[in-house]
Amino acid sequence: MGQGTPGGLNRQGLPGDRKGDGSNKKEKKFEPAAPPARVGRKQRKQKGPEAAARLPTVTPLSKCKLRLLKLERIKDYLLMEEEFVANQERLKPQEEKAEEDRSKVDDLRGSPMSVGNLEELIDENHAIVSSSVGPEYYVGILSFVDKDQLEPGCAILMHNKVLSVVGLLQDEVDPMVSVMKVEKAPLESYADIGGLDAQIQEIKEAVELPLTHPELYEDIGIKPPKGVILYGGPGTGKTLLAKAVANSTSATFLRVVGSELIQKYLGDGPKLVRELFRVADDLSPSIVFIDEIDAVGTKRYDAHSGGEREIQRTMLELLNQLDGFDSRGDVKVILATNRIESLDPALLRPGRIDRKIEFPLPDIKTRRRIFQIHTSRMTLADDVNLEEFVMTKDEFSGADIKAICTEAGLLALRERRMKVTHADFKKAKEKVMFKKKEGVPEGLYM
Ligand SMILES: Nc1ncnc2c1ncn2[C@@H]1O[C@H](COP(=O)(O)OP(=O)(O)OP(=O)(O)O)[C@@H](O)[C@H]1O
Ligand SMILES: [Mg+2]
Repeated sequence: MGQGTPGGLNRQGLPGDRKGDGSNKKEKKFEPAAPPARVGRKQRKQKGPEAAARLPTVTPLSKCKLRLLKLERIKDYLLMEEEFVANQERLKPQEEKAEEDRSKVDDLRGSPMSVGNLEELIDENHAIVSSSVGPEYYVGILSFVDKDQLEPGCAILMHNKVLSVVGLLQDEVDPMVSVMKVEKAPLESYADIGGLDAQIQEIKEAVELPLTHPELYEDIGIKPPKGVILYGGPGTGKTLLAKAVANSTSATFLRVVGSELIQKYLGDGPKLVRELFRVADDLSPSIVFIDEIDAVGTKRYDAHSGGEREIQRTMLELLNQLDGFDSRGDVKVILATNRIESLDPALLRPGRIDRKIEFPLPDIKTRRRIFQIHTSRMTLADDVNLEEFVMTKDEFSGADIKAICTEAGLLALRERRMKVTHADFKKAKEKVMFKKKEGVPEGLYM
């Protein structure tokens, strides 16, 4: 603007000088038309030559425009970047927070947790829990625990110090029970049992037939027996027969040894029995075989210590399960023991264990058969006369006969012979009988 005024003054003085310029004349004609506006125009005019001189810079102008566009684009980019960074900063704290929370949860989960039982749900966030060691606690339930799955009686994970519920044990089936399931059928079959025909028939009637043909029992109008007990001296083939049943049956076979039912903590043994029968029910039709039942089934008035009383509680739970308030239609029980006289009469009363199958020591015919079974895969010399051992007056159980055969085979092996001779059998028999009599040879103290 400051230049405008002197420019205007100059302009008035200059016209005469520039008369020769045609373009200037035209401009002069315009001047009178709108004197005030001319100031600006004049300026332009004045700059006109300069502008003309700058005209080449017009092309740079388009360059500038390009540059402007370029810069604008860069600005856009920068704006986007700024927004992005702003967003990043806004979102970051959330992520960090989540991370922090997660690490807290991990802390809770990572430290050792105690396993307890959910006794009662109080409200959304509180429950009463108990652990196997004693008292019950009122504790909080952490928010990330799926509350839909919590129900009284389920196994839960608790924080080791504050005891709040931090998790749920999904599989409530006691691993002890799942181990009991016989996945692979044992190799022993009915053909491997010498004699015991009556016993095999009885167990088939009592256990297998009700599972495969329940209608037969309905027709006659009786309830099939719930279970059988196999009893007899050691090595008379009780476990063997149970194995044969497991081998031939298509039902689920659960095998327990009585001693497995004895647990460390009070209440765990009965719980295991309950669990066992529950699993058996789930997988029915099924057969539960409890070997060496005398471990838990001894007479009740014998109890002196707390431990013994707990064992009896386990047995009482067994009674309860056999009685089956909830009917266990497709679950059959096989018990085995060699001390039936020491068992609690309640366990054996009709209605629980209806059939008692005795396993006697083998008679002569059975002995012959057992010898045949156990020597069938051995290479015998021609001089072997098994009749001598079959007819002997000594008392043999099936297990003794098996031991004699094995021992004879080992003796032959010691001398690298390919065949087992009669002498081997004789030696083996002496050895087995010697061991059977508790290592005291006959007549030693005469
Ligand atoms: N009747 C039999 N026929 C063939 N083998 C037999 C017979 N009885 C016993 N045995 C042999 O004796 C071994 C031991 O028998 P088993 O394990 O059945 O004894 P058990 O009656 O269960 O004794 P325990 O009461 O001590 O448990 C069997 O592996 C089998 O080889
Ligand atoms: Mg046995």
